[in-house]
Amino acid sequence: SSNAMWGGRFASGPDAIMEAINASISFDKRLYAQDIRGSRAHAAMLAAQGILTHSDAEAIREGLLTVLSEIEKGDFPFSTALEDIHMNVEARLKALIGEPAGRLHTARSRNDQVATDFRLWVRDQCDLVLKAIEGLQRALLTQAEAGAEWVMPGFTHLQTAQPVTWGHHMMAYVEMLARDAGRFADARRRMNESPLGAAALAGTSFPIDRFATAEALGFDRPMANSLDAVSDRDFALEFLSSAAICAVHLSRLSEELVIWSSAQFRFVALSDKWSTGSSIMPQKRNPDAAELIRAKIARILGSTVALFTVMKGLPLAYSKDMQEDKEQVFDAADTLELALAAMTGMISDLTVNRDKLEAAAASGFSTATDLADWLVREAGLPFRDAHYVTGVLVAMAEKRGVDLPDLTLADMQSVNPAITEDVFRVLGVHNSVASRQSYGGTSPVQVRAQIARWREILR
Ligand code: ARG
Repeated sequence: SSNAMWGGRFASGPDAIMEAINASISFDKRLYAQDIRGSRAHAAMLAAQGILTHSDAEAIREGLLTVLSEIEKGDFPFSTALEDIHMNVEARLKALIGEPAGRLHTARSRNDQVATDFRLWVRDQCDLVLKAIEGLQRALLTQAEAGAEWVMPGFTHLQTAQPVTWGHHMMAYVEMLARDAGRFADARRRMNESPLGAAALAGTSFPIDRFATAEALGFDRPMANSLDAVSDRDFALEFLSSAAICAVHLSRLSEELVIWSSAQFRFVALSDKWSTGSSIMPQKRNPDAAELIRAKIARILGSTVALFTVMKGLPLAYSKDMQEDKEQVFDAADTLELALAAMTGMISDLTVNRDKLEAAAASGFSTATDLADWLVREAGLPFRDAHYVTGVLVAMAEKRGVDLPDLTLADMQSVNPAITEDVFRVLGVHNSVASRQSYGGTSPVQVRAQIARWREILR
């Protein structure tokens, strides 16, 4: 049979494969609450403008509430033949209230309808992500507070570089997540304009009030150009781009947890709740959640590239290609939410092996830079010469299989006679980190200042 929504022009219904490729109800049913909210705002506005009678508007309002409760109770007859959430809701409304249902779509198109629904959904998702990011920041902050003084090796090239503090390392992620939150907040602000009333693309000849529907739906204002309103998916691209960058941060932290929890490092132990065993190797305690976060991030990056690719060739205004926006965003949003929750759980439950951190910090010539700096400061050497002298001493220590503080004063003076006993002061890892007092540096004083600033912000 031909379609109830546009059957007038058609003699026969679609091929079964046509129906399969065309339908979006299997996934866009997730927009039901936003769709009903948008329709309620639209109907109320139509009545206020005298385009609908108040009794029709009231019948529509009550009918939509019934549809909402049917969907929420799980006894709504979703139909693939009805293609998408918009037509499923409208058809059910028709079955419930009859003729007035047919008046709801006055001065509206599915093009502005779907753009409105989806913006509302992505806007809600931004709020959820912002909450989740803050939760992870709090967990990191708690770790940073506990370990503001614990020294650990800082790495470059994953080679021991200079000692840093555990608190400093944790706070680096707090900063990264703050930028992520900033991107989501910024995207949310920009997307908070209403496409509703753009109709198919050109606007409408009915005397609608787009400012009223914008306000009813919590938008700051209506979008200024009806062609742009139905064509735009920047809000989805911005959400995905923000998610992709946040995902990269989570993936890097996951990678560190995998490395740190390995037998060779043992910097941290994941709790039982956040580890898995092996069915064959009894000793195993695997960081599966960290590995899965690291891997699932691929989905978010994939979704981001996919939607960019969908959008890049589309002429204005609406093209059906844009129906492919939703699965990408839904999957990325679900993945990010799960990854943030899992990371928050792991970090909150993490046991840090302070002794291991400190022992590792003291090995690998991590205070070589402190020695070179001492030669500049106390012996007046140019930095390049100090670098050379220190390099010779590192080679000497390496050859003997010891670390820098294990060399004797005589050893040191054999390379440069200006070295005095005082040098041993800077070769200790605690002195090393304490000396890094520059703003944002690793000294506990600086790290505590960072923590205090964030405690204030996240209060
Ligand atoms: N299901 C469609 C989508 O998600 C709704 C808009 C359809 N509009 C149209 N003119 N066919 O994009």
